Amino acid sequence: MADALRSPDQPPAPILRSDYRAPDWQVSEIALDFDLDPARTVVRAKLHVTRNGDHDRPLRLDGDGLQPLSVGIDGVAGSNDRWRMDGDALVVDLDGKAHVVETEVAIAPERNTQLMGLYASGGNLCTQCEAEGFRRITFFPDRPDVLARYSVRMTADKARFPVLLANGDPIAHGDLEDGCHWAEWHDPFPKPSYLFALVAGDLVANRATFVTASGREVQLAIWVREKDLAKTDHALDALKTSMAWDERVYGREYDLDVFNIVAVDDFNFGAMENKGLNIFNSRYILADPDTATDHDYDAIAAVVAHEYFHNWSGNRVTCRDWFQLSLKEGFTVFRDQGFSADQGSAAVKRIEDVRSLRAAQFPEDAGPLAHPIRPDSYLEISNFYTATIYNKGAEVVRMLHTILGPQRFRAGTDLYFDRFDGTAATCEDFVASMEEANGVDLAQFRRWYSQAGTPRVTATLEHEPGGGTATLHLAQAVPPTPGQPHKLPMVLPLKLRLFGGNTGRPLGDEQLVLLSDAEATLRFEAVTERPVLSINRGFSAPVIVDTNRTPADLAFLSGHDDDPFARYEAMQQLMLDTLVASVASGRGDHGAVVDAVRETLRNPELDRAFVAEAVLLPSDNFIGDQLPIVDPDAIFRAREALRRDIGRALERDWRQAYEDTRNGAFEYSPEAKGKRRLKTVALGYLAASGAPDIGELAFAQFEQADNMTDRQGALMTLVNGPWDQRVAALDIFYNRYRDNPLVLDKWFSTQALSTRDDTPERVEELAGHRDFTLANPNRARALVGAFGVNQRAFHAADGRGYRFFAQQLIALDRLNPQTAAKMMPPLGRWRRFDPARQQAMRAALEQILASPGLSKDMLEQVSKSLA
Ligand code: PHE
Ligand code: ZN
Repeated sequence: MADALRSPDQPPAPILRSDYRAPDWQVSEIALDFDLDPARTVVRAKLHVTRNGDHDRPLRLDGDGLQPLSVGIDGVAGSNDRWRMDGDALVVDLDGKAHVVETEVAIAPERNTQLMGLYASGGNLCTQCEAEGFRRITFFPDRPDVLARYSVRMTADKARFPVLLANGDPIAHGDLEDGCHWAEWHDPFPKPSYLFALVAGDLVANRATFVTASGREVQLAIWVREKDLAKTDHALDALKTSMAWDERVYGREYDLDVFNIVAVDDFNFGAMENKGLNIFNSRYILADPDTATDHDYDAIAAVVAHEYFHNWSGNRVTCRDWFQLSLKEGFTVFRDQGFSADQGSAAVKRIEDVRSLRAAQFPEDAGPLAHPIRPDSYLEISNFYTATIYNKGAEVVRMLHTILGPQRFRAGTDLYFDRFDGTAATCEDFVASMEEANGVDLAQFRRWYSQAGTPRVTATLEHEPGGGTATLHLAQAVPPTPGQPHKLPMVLPLKLRLFGGNTGRPLGDEQLVLLSDAEATLRFEAVTERPVLSINRGFSAPVIVDTNRTPADLAFLSGHDDDPFARYEAMQQLMLDTLVASVASGRGDHGAVVDAVRETLRNPELDRAFVAEAVLLPSDNFIGDQLPIVDPDAIFRAREALRRDIGRALERDWRQAYEDTRNGAFEYSPEAKGKRRLKTVALGYLAASGAPDIGELAFAQFEQADNMTDRQGALMTLVNGPWDQRVAALDIFYNRYRDNPLVLDKWFSTQALSTRDDTPERVEELAGHRDFTLANPNRARALVGAFGVNQRAFHAADGRGYRFFAQQLIALDRLNPQTAAKMMPPLGRWRRFDPARQQAMRAALEQILASPGLSKDMLEQVSKSLA
């Protein structure tokens, strides 16, 4: 991994978006030949290259840690005077317009701990090439605007690797005399190198057929190790549903004869959309009721859909350069969110999506790593697979959908797909397609692509009771972010509606207001009763809204707004205002929240899943985000006090809700899921009430559960509390699932997220557990990653949380820089804390920075965080 190491005298130079230049050489075809072996794989590549434009520059092939064993030019081997190494790149002097360049390298998949390029996982071999992993396999212009046709031949030991897969369609296969076999695959669609994939392993398939709208029959298969085969039905169903959905909603059909998915245990991200051969982190494939929660089931369907949808938004139309990443990721997240919304409650899905935007993206946008959804520069592209690119990117696409309406939005995507099919496009191409298809001007809207930071909207509603006129003053401000001190106003689509404060009647229809100036005033006539403002309904713009609504207004909306998101939001705001006030004063007036929760809980009309979301308090982290200086202990005390009061005041309601949500045998349906969700929430509030029987109640649920949602829900309650049953439950859970890595991850993360006082010590201890390893990204995230978002434990006043975290990140960086760098941000938020914590956090960051051989990934994250 010498490539990832920093040489101290040469600080790496940032890559700039403004420096983009078309490639000097195109590759029309590449034939790859792999002699697969975990210890030493030989890769031969034959590239048909053509000069792009009128220039005399040499062919420059990216490499990362590769040494050429041989180089051939136009059929002549050993033309050693015509090529040279320039750092990691292979530079070849060519004089004509078109040439054939052949290279041969040897790589060692079993020593690849970065999990980029060709690596071993659980005895099998697989690849990960996005963003720049292909250059760890062979020399190639490894940039997304070089689109080539790929042919792949693989040879491997047949007993060890009976299954050989690559992109596209299988062409031929056969046996060799020495116990080896071979297979050839061909992908007819030109693609960038980041979409290349191969898999060699001892795998079995769950198969199905899908017939596309135009009658093409596609062979679907999900490949796993034999012991996991029974856990693949849900993912396979989700795949079929996604394929039909994309035809119905976007008019997009699948284009190859086969579609393969492979699940692997060691994977840096969630999954990868390689053409015709998606490779997944096994956590987004494997599910059965005993081992996967409802949340896991939902995430599996969403990720399967996401990767499938990339076949059009990402593969058929790809990205010109990595600054355009949100072109495929923001759009594809928007598409998978729409898919999931259609599978169950759209309202609950929207609430979940906004919750995770606020948990991950808002803090990013407010901190040292803030960047626009189309960044202007980077050191290491892996650091830009962020909540901003993905989730804020999806919100930007959603605003286009809201502004244009579904039909015009679809006209825009049709034009975009048709025009840019087979090409590498830009965010600008996407916006221009929306404009051209609909004859609209999105000039100012484009600021969403260039300005970072979460806009803040102030909405002040005034009413003159005599005149019957209501006036709404709107103002917006976009905060400064690193490198962007001054901002211009954005286009903000704000859905709003007024309600009568006395009668509860809506006063007029919902309106879509496009706020594009810094300030605007709206007038409403014939408002005969005191109006209450419902604004940013459906979270129509990804902004923070400050209003002059009273606690009574919020309580009223939480019970009566006709937009379910706005109703949830009103309750959240009421809770947040209450909590922020009590963090400041040390004591809280909880009456209004208790009443609002009671009303929601007792409303039989409401979907149980909605109720469960609505009555949940904002997280410690989100409360902290509202405060000028985060005091984790005060926040925890205030939140616990409110939880206790809600638990006590409504104890009978919670017990009732708990009884009412007892399900029959396990069923995966929206209703059953809603019940399970509310059941765990009710158990949590009962625990907070301090009722004496909760240890027993939770333990009984833990033991009797016929599904992981109930079992983990009970375990979580126990692990957060004082009860003796906690220890027994953890032991039982461990012994029952010790052979299942995905469930063992839950065992680690549940403890890392515990609100108990002894969590920092416990987590340090767990880092020495025999089942803990940093080599597996899921396991590292389950303990270290989860600990980083446990606001109270991570920020323990003695600073041990920071020291532990830094130590783990340094060790992880040596193995897997990408995964380490991705976990770092909680430490980078030091400016938000008191002086003592600031100092301790900076010391931890400096310790990371000083560690020898730090990766470029970590260097970028840490130095930006200290700047
Ligand atoms: N492109 C993948 C996705 O979002 C994410 C990914 C990025 C996976 C980089 C692996 C490496 O679908
Ligand atoms: Zn994606």
